[in-house]
Amino acid sequence: MIIAVDGPTASGKGTIAKALALYFGLPHLDTGLLYRAVGRQVQMNGGNADDPHHALAACDFADSLLEEDILRSEEVGGLASRVSVHPAVRRALYERQRAFATQAGGAVLDGRDIGTVIAPEAPVKLFVTASVQERARRRWLEMTGRGIDVVLAAIERDIAARDARDMNRADAPLVAAADALVIDTTHFGRDAAIEAAIEAVQHKLSAH
Ligand code: DC
Repeated sequence: MIIAVDGPTASGKGTIAKALALYFGLPHLDTGLLYRAVGRQVQMNGGNADDPHHALAACDFADSLLEEDILRSEEVGGLASRVSVHPAVRRALYERQRAFATQAGGAVLDGRDIGTVIAPEAPVKLFVTASVQERARRRWLEMTGRGIDVVLAAIERDIAARDARDMNRADAPLVAAADALVIDTTHFGRDAAIEAAIEAVQHKLSAH
């Protein structure tokens, strides 16, 4: 069984995808990490994330990069969003994601285009979202909790810019698949959101 979990940054999709993987005993792939690795590799190459040739060359990153903490930074998240607009980058990362999705026994993948492009045949598709203000608040809490000095308004601005880039790109834009169940976590705590997602999957399974 393939479970596709899509949604914007800081919506809680990663937390939900991990919890579903654990609950249903499936392997999980955070596809955003692949784009983050490309963004980070461009930076290490001294290249420009907006240049499709520089971005494509960076798709050749070493797998060990995926383990590095720096991939989780806001800066690398912004670079990931910039490299992800290039169709050649999306093509280069496609096979790896597709192979993960179609492995025997199933998988959970989270990202932006899992239900629309990577695994459109997935029987379970969730689109996890929340208001920009709430997502900015969560990111601010997380960052200040790690001792990083950031201003809430700046985070809100960055998230809105990233949403706009992810939703307006021509190739595989961030959009809920027509058959996705939308989970708005704006007013949900973590556990309630996970519970709703597990219920949604079970409901789909019993209907199959
Ligand atoms: O989920 P994330 O914040 O780690 O993703 C970082 C960026 O990578 C995001 O802004 C857009 C891009 N991305 C994508 O285009 N397609 C995916 N399936 C996952 C991420």
